[in-house]
Amino acid sequence: MRKGILLAGGSGSRLYPLTKSVNKHLLQVYDKPMFYYPLSTLMLADIRDILIITNKKDLNLFQSFFGNGTGLGIHIDYSIQDKPEGVAQSFLIGKDFIKDNSSALIFGDNIFHGNELINQLNNMTNTNSGAIALAYPVSDPERYGVVEFTADGQVIGIEEKPERPKSRYALTGLYFYDNTVLEKALKVERSTRGELEITDINNQYLNKGKLKVELMGRGMAWLDTGTCDSLYDASSYIKTLQQRQGFKIGCPEEIAWRKGWITDSELTALALPLLKSGYGKYLISLIEGTNN
Ligand code: DAU
Repeated sequence: MRKGILLAGGSGSRLYPLTKSVNKHLLQVYDKPMFYYPLSTLMLADIRDILIITNKKDLNLFQSFFGNGTGLGIHIDYSIQDKPEGVAQSFLIGKDFIKDNSSALIFGDNIFHGNELINQLNNMTNTNSGAIALAYPVSDPERYGVVEFTADGQVIGIEEKPERPKSRYALTGLYFYDNTVLEKALKVERSTRGELEITDINNQYLNKGKLKVELMGRGMAWLDTGTCDSLYDASSYIKTLQQRQGFKIGCPEEIAWRKGWITDSELTALALPLLKSGYGKYLISLIEGTNN
Protein backbone atom coordinates (compact mmCIF):
# COMPACT_ATOMS: atom_id res chain seq x y z
CA MET A 1 0.00 0.00 0.00
CA ARG A 2 1.14 3.56 -0.66
CA LYS A 3 0.57 6.14 2.07
CA GLY A 4 0.49 9.89 1.51
CA ILE A 5 1.98 12.75 3.48
CA LEU A 6 0.70 16.29 2.99
CA LEU A 7 3.13 18.78 4.49
CA ALA A 8 1.38 21.88 5.72
CA GLY A 9 3.60 23.36 8.41
CA GLY A 10 6.35 25.93 7.99
CA SER A 11 6.38 29.60 8.88
CA GLY A 12 4.99 31.03 5.63
CA SER A 13 7.29 33.99 6.18
CA ARG A 14 7.50 34.80 2.46
CA LEU A 15 3.82 35.74 2.68
CA TYR A 16 3.99 37.94 5.80
CA PRO A 17 1.84 39.65 7.05
CA LEU A 18 -0.79 37.38 5.42
CA THR A 19 0.52 34.36 7.28
CA LYS A 20 1.48 35.97 10.57
CA SER A 21 -1.50 34.38 12.29
CA VAL A 22 -3.03 32.19 9.56
CA ASN A 23 -1.39 29.00 8.29
CA LYS A 24 -0.43 29.52 4.64
CA HIS A 25 -2.13 26.30 3.55
CA LEU A 26 -5.49 27.58 4.78
CA LEU A 27 -5.28 30.72 2.65
CA GLN A 28 -7.73 31.12 -0.18
CA VAL A 29 -6.86 29.89 -3.64
CA TYR A 30 -9.91 31.31 -5.38
CA ASP A 31 -12.83 29.36 -3.85
CA LYS A 32 -11.19 26.89 -1.48
CA PRO A 33 -8.35 26.58 1.02
CA MET A 34 -4.93 25.94 -0.53
CA PHE A 35 -4.48 22.47 0.98
CA TYR A 36 -7.59 21.15 -0.84
CA TYR A 37 -5.51 21.06 -4.04
CA PRO A 38 -2.65 18.83 -2.86
CA LEU A 39 -5.15 16.71 -0.91
CA SER A 40 -7.04 16.23 -4.18
CA THR A 41 -3.83 15.26 -5.98
CA LEU A 42 -3.11 12.50 -3.47
CA MET A 43 -6.69 11.27 -3.80
CA LEU A 44 -6.42 11.29 -7.61
CA ALA A 45 -3.39 9.02 -7.16
CA ASP A 46 -5.72 6.62 -5.28
CA ILE A 47 -3.98 7.30 -2.00
CA ARG A 48 -6.54 6.89 0.77
CA ASP A 49 -4.38 6.84 3.86
CA ILE A 50 -3.06 10.35 4.41
CA LEU A 51 -1.04 12.09 7.11
CA ILE A 52 -1.33 15.87 7.37
CA ILE A 53 1.68 17.39 9.11
CA THR A 54 1.22 20.89 10.45
CA ASN A 55 2.10 23.26 13.28
CA LYS A 56 0.73 22.66 16.76
CA LYS A 57 -1.31 25.87 16.80
CA ASP A 58 -3.03 24.99 13.51
CA LEU A 59 -3.85 21.34 14.13
CA ASN A 60 -7.46 21.93 15.25
CA LEU A 61 -8.11 24.14 12.24
CA PHE A 62 -7.01 21.43 9.82
CA GLN A 63 -9.04 18.81 11.67
CA SER A 64 -12.13 21.00 11.42
CA PHE A 65 -12.31 20.45 7.64
CA PHE A 66 -12.37 16.69 7.10
CA GLY A 67 -11.63 15.23 10.57
CA ASN A 68 -10.50 11.62 10.25
CA GLY A 69 -11.48 11.59 6.59
CA THR A 70 -14.41 9.17 6.89
CA GLY A 71 -16.72 11.65 5.15
CA LEU A 72 -14.45 11.43 2.09
CA GLY A 73 -14.11 7.65 2.28
CA ILE A 74 -10.45 8.00 3.22
CA HIS A 75 -8.40 7.99 6.41
CA ILE A 76 -6.64 11.14 7.61
CA ASP A 77 -4.12 11.22 10.45
CA TYR A 78 -2.43 14.34 11.79
CA SER A 79 1.03 15.02 13.21
CA ILE A 80 2.76 18.09 14.51
CA GLN A 81 6.01 19.55 13.26
CA ASP A 82 7.41 21.38 16.29
CA LYS A 83 9.72 23.62 14.28
CA PRO A 84 10.01 24.19 10.51
CA GLU A 85 13.37 22.45 10.17
CA GLY A 86 12.95 21.39 6.57
CA VAL A 87 10.69 19.35 4.34
CA ALA A 88 12.72 16.13 4.66
CA GLN A 89 11.66 16.08 8.31
CA SER A 90 8.32 14.75 7.04
CA PHE A 91 9.76 11.26 7.08
CA LEU A 92 11.16 11.53 10.60
CA ILE A 93 7.75 12.70 11.79
CA GLY A 94 5.81 10.28 9.59
CA LYS A 95 7.81 7.09 10.07
CA ASP A 96 5.28 5.39 12.38
CA PHE A 97 2.54 6.31 9.95
CA ILE A 98 4.40 4.91 6.92
CA LYS A 99 5.62 1.76 8.71
CA ASP A 100 6.73 -0.69 6.00
CA ASN A 101 4.73 0.89 3.18
CA SER A 102 5.76 3.00 0.22
CA SER A 103 4.80 6.66 0.31
CA ALA A 104 4.08 9.86 -1.54
CA LEU A 105 4.97 13.29 -0.23
CA ILE A 106 3.22 16.42 -1.45
CA PHE A 107 3.80 19.98 -0.31
CA GLY A 108 0.72 21.81 0.85
CA ASP A 109 1.43 24.76 -1.44
CA ASN A 110 1.72 22.83 -4.73
CA ILE A 111 -1.12 22.79 -7.25
CA PHE A 112 -1.13 20.36 -10.17
CA HIS A 113 -3.57 20.41 -13.05
CA GLY A 114 -3.86 19.12 -16.58
CA ASN A 115 -5.13 16.43 -18.88
CA GLU A 116 -2.13 14.16 -18.44
CA LEU A 117 -2.07 14.40 -14.65
CA ILE A 118 -4.03 11.22 -13.96
CA ASN A 119 -1.85 9.15 -16.33
CA GLN A 120 1.26 10.59 -14.79
CA LEU A 121 0.01 9.81 -11.28
CA ASN A 122 -0.88 6.26 -12.35
CA ASN A 123 2.64 5.72 -13.69
CA MET A 124 4.08 6.99 -10.45
CA THR A 125 1.85 4.85 -8.23
CA ASN A 126 2.62 1.73 -10.21
CA THR A 127 6.34 2.00 -9.57
CA ASN A 128 7.21 0.26 -6.33
CA SER A 129 10.98 0.49 -6.19
CA GLY A 130 13.11 3.63 -5.94
CA ALA A 131 11.83 7.18 -6.19
CA ILE A 132 9.94 9.17 -8.81
CA ALA A 133 9.71 12.93 -9.01
CA LEU A 134 8.19 15.31 -11.52
CA ALA A 135 10.13 18.06 -13.25
CA TYR A 136 8.54 21.12 -14.79
CA PRO A 137 10.10 23.86 -16.92
CA VAL A 138 10.01 27.25 -15.19
CA SER A 139 11.38 30.69 -15.93
CA ASP A 140 12.78 31.12 -12.39
CA PRO A 141 14.51 27.79 -11.61
CA GLU A 142 16.76 29.36 -8.95
CA ARG A 143 13.76 29.25 -6.57
CA TYR A 144 13.59 25.44 -6.64
CA GLY A 145 15.39 22.11 -6.66
CA VAL A 146 16.86 22.06 -10.18
CA VAL A 147 17.59 18.98 -12.28
CA GLU A 148 20.83 18.66 -14.24
CA PHE A 149 20.67 16.45 -17.34
CA THR A 150 23.29 14.99 -19.67
CA ALA A 151 22.98 15.82 -23.36
CA ASP A 152 20.96 12.63 -23.87
CA GLY A 153 18.53 13.44 -21.06
CA GLN A 154 19.95 11.36 -18.18
CA VAL A 155 19.58 12.98 -14.77
CA ILE A 156 23.00 13.54 -13.21
CA GLY A 157 22.25 15.81 -10.29
CA ILE A 158 19.79 17.93 -8.39
CA GLU A 159 20.77 21.22 -6.81
CA GLU A 160 18.68 23.08 -4.27
CA LYS A 161 18.13 26.72 -5.18
CA PRO A 162 21.33 27.08 -7.24
CA GLU A 163 22.59 30.56 -8.06
CA ARG A 164 23.36 29.35 -11.58
CA PRO A 165 20.77 26.72 -12.48
CA LYS A 166 22.00 24.00 -14.86
CA SER A 167 18.57 23.67 -16.48
CA ARG A 168 15.11 25.25 -16.49
CA TYR A 169 13.61 22.11 -14.94
CA ALA A 170 12.45 22.45 -11.34
CA LEU A 171 11.48 19.43 -9.29
CA THR A 172 7.91 19.86 -8.15
CA GLY A 173 6.76 19.22 -4.61
CA LEU A 174 5.37 15.74 -5.29
CA TYR A 175 7.56 12.69 -4.75
CA PHE A 176 6.85 8.97 -4.69
CA TYR A 177 9.24 6.83 -2.63
CA ASP A 178 9.79 3.22 -1.70
CA ASN A 179 10.21 2.35 1.97
CA THR A 180 13.95 3.08 1.98
CA VAL A 181 13.06 6.76 2.21
CA LEU A 182 12.81 6.27 5.97
CA GLU A 183 16.46 5.24 6.33
CA LYS A 184 17.55 7.86 3.80
CA ALA A 185 15.78 10.59 5.81
CA LEU A 186 17.85 9.64 8.86
CA LYS A 187 21.05 10.40 6.93
CA VAL A 188 20.05 13.91 5.84
CA GLU A 189 22.25 16.65 7.25
CA ARG A 190 21.34 20.31 7.56
CA SER A 191 22.01 22.37 4.47
CA THR A 192 23.77 25.73 4.45
CA ARG A 193 20.36 27.37 4.98
CA GLY A 194 19.95 25.17 8.06
CA GLU A 195 17.20 22.89 6.68
CA LEU A 196 16.74 19.17 6.11
CA GLU A 197 16.33 19.26 2.33
CA ILE A 198 14.29 16.89 0.20
CA THR A 199 16.98 17.34 -2.44
CA ASP A 200 19.35 15.42 -0.16
CA ILE A 201 16.97 12.44 -0.13
CA ASN A 202 16.51 12.64 -3.90
CA ASN A 203 20.27 12.73 -4.45
CA GLN A 204 20.68 9.64 -2.26
CA TYR A 205 18.26 7.82 -4.60
CA LEU A 206 20.04 9.24 -7.63
CA ASN A 207 23.44 8.04 -6.40
CA LYS A 208 22.06 4.52 -6.15
CA GLY A 209 20.59 4.77 -9.66
CA LYS A 210 17.10 4.67 -8.16
CA LEU A 211 15.68 8.10 -9.02
CA LYS A 212 13.38 8.52 -11.98
CA VAL A 213 12.45 12.04 -13.04
CA GLU A 214 9.38 12.40 -15.24
CA LEU A 215 9.01 15.58 -17.26
CA MET A 216 5.67 17.32 -17.17
CA GLY A 217 4.54 18.51 -20.57
CA ARG A 218 3.95 22.13 -21.46
CA GLY A 219 0.19 21.60 -21.47
CA MET A 220 0.21 20.85 -17.76
CA ALA A 221 0.08 23.36 -14.94
CA TRP A 222 2.22 23.24 -11.83
CA LEU A 223 1.62 26.26 -9.69
CA ASP A 224 3.32 26.98 -6.45
CA THR A 225 1.69 29.42 -4.12
CA GLY A 226 4.62 30.38 -1.95
CA THR A 227 4.78 34.09 -2.83
CA CYS A 228 2.11 36.81 -3.06
CA ASP A 229 2.40 36.88 -6.84
CA SER A 230 2.24 33.11 -7.31
CA LEU A 231 -0.69 32.91 -4.88
CA TYR A 232 -2.57 35.55 -6.84
CA ASP A 233 -1.73 33.88 -10.17
CA ALA A 234 -2.93 30.51 -8.88
CA SER A 235 -6.27 32.01 -7.84
CA SER A 236 -6.81 33.60 -11.21
CA TYR A 237 -5.82 30.40 -13.04
CA ILE A 238 -8.36 28.38 -11.03
CA LYS A 239 -11.05 31.05 -11.45
CA THR A 240 -10.57 31.27 -15.22
CA LEU A 241 -10.73 27.52 -15.85
CA GLN A 242 -13.55 26.83 -13.40
CA GLN A 243 -15.74 29.61 -14.77
CA ARG A 244 -15.12 28.60 -18.37
CA GLN A 245 -15.77 24.88 -17.91
CA GLY A 246 -18.09 24.74 -14.92
CA PHE A 247 -15.90 22.05 -13.32
CA LYS A 248 -14.09 22.60 -10.07
CA ILE A 249 -10.37 21.98 -9.73
CA GLY A 250 -9.13 20.47 -6.46
CA CYS A 251 -12.49 19.45 -4.99
CA PRO A 252 -11.86 16.49 -2.64
CA GLU A 253 -15.58 15.74 -2.19
CA GLU A 254 -16.06 15.40 -5.95
CA ILE A 255 -13.04 13.11 -6.32
CA ALA A 256 -14.25 10.87 -3.48
CA TRP A 257 -17.68 10.65 -5.14
CA ARG A 258 -16.39 10.04 -8.68
CA LYS A 259 -14.11 7.30 -7.37
CA GLY A 260 -17.08 5.64 -5.69
CA TRP A 261 -15.59 6.07 -2.22
CA ILE A 262 -18.76 7.87 -1.07
CA THR A 263 -22.40 7.51 -2.13
CA ASP A 264 -24.80 10.15 -3.44
CA SER A 265 -26.34 10.53 -0.01
CA GLU A 266 -22.92 10.89 1.62
CA LEU A 267 -22.02 13.60 -0.89
CA THR A 268 -25.33 15.32 -0.15
CA ALA A 269 -24.50 15.27 3.56
CA LEU A 270 -21.18 17.00 2.81
CA ALA A 271 -22.91 19.56 0.58
CA LEU A 272 -25.78 20.54 2.90
CA PRO A 273 -23.78 22.76 5.30
CA LEU A 274 -22.21 24.50 2.28
CA LEU A 275 -25.37 25.29 0.34
CA LYS A 276 -25.12 29.04 0.78
CA SER A 277 -21.96 28.96 -1.31
CA GLY A 278 -21.43 28.00 -4.90
CA TYR A 279 -19.28 25.15 -3.60
CA GLY A 280 -22.18 23.35 -1.93
CA LYS A 281 -24.44 23.96 -4.93
CA TYR A 282 -21.76 22.49 -7.18
CA LEU A 283 -21.65 19.28 -5.13
CA ILE A 284 -25.42 18.94 -5.42
CA SER A 285 -25.29 19.61 -9.16
CA LEU A 286 -22.97 16.59 -9.52
CA ILE A 287 -25.58 14.28 -8.05
CA GLU A 288 -28.35 15.85 -10.09
CA GLY A 289 -26.31 15.20 -13.20
CA THR A 290 -26.45 18.80 -14.31
CA ASN A 291 -22.69 19.15 -14.20
CA ASN A 292 -21.29 16.03 -15.83
O1 DAU B 1 7.74 23.51 -4.46
C1 DAU B 1 8.79 22.69 -4.91
C2 DAU B 1 10.07 22.99 -4.16
O2 DAU B 1 9.79 22.78 -2.77
C3 DAU B 1 11.23 22.09 -4.62
O3 DAU B 1 11.61 22.42 -5.94
C4 DAU B 1 12.43 22.25 -3.70
O4 DAU B 1 13.43 21.34 -4.07
C5 DAU B 1 12.02 21.99 -2.25
O5 DAU B 1 13.10 22.21 -1.36
C6 DAU B 1 10.88 22.92 -1.87
O6 DAU B 1 11.40 24.25 -1.89
P1 DAU B 1 10.72 25.50 -1.17
O7 DAU B 1 11.75 26.45 -0.73
O8 DAU B 1 9.70 26.04 -2.12
O9 DAU B 1 10.05 24.86 0.07
P2 DAU B 1 9.22 25.63 1.15
O10 DAU B 1 10.11 26.09 2.23
O11 DAU B 1 8.32 26.62 0.50
O12 DAU B 1 8.33 24.46 1.71
C7 DAU B 1 7.51 23.64 0.89
C8 DAU B 1 6.23 23.32 1.66
O13 DAU B 1 6.49 22.65 2.86
C9 DAU B 1 5.41 24.54 2.04
O14 DAU B 1 4.05 24.19 1.81
C10 DAU B 1 5.69 24.76 3.51
C11 DAU B 1 5.98 23.39 4.00
N1 DAU B 1 7.01 23.30 5.05
C12 DAU B 1 8.26 23.80 4.79
C13 DAU B 1 9.26 23.65 5.70
C14 DAU B 1 10.65 24.18 5.43
C15 DAU B 1 6.74 22.67 6.22
O15 DAU B 1 5.58 22.23 6.45
N2 DAU B 1 7.73 22.53 7.14
C16 DAU B 1 9.00 22.99 6.94
O16 DAU B 1 9.87 22.80 7.82
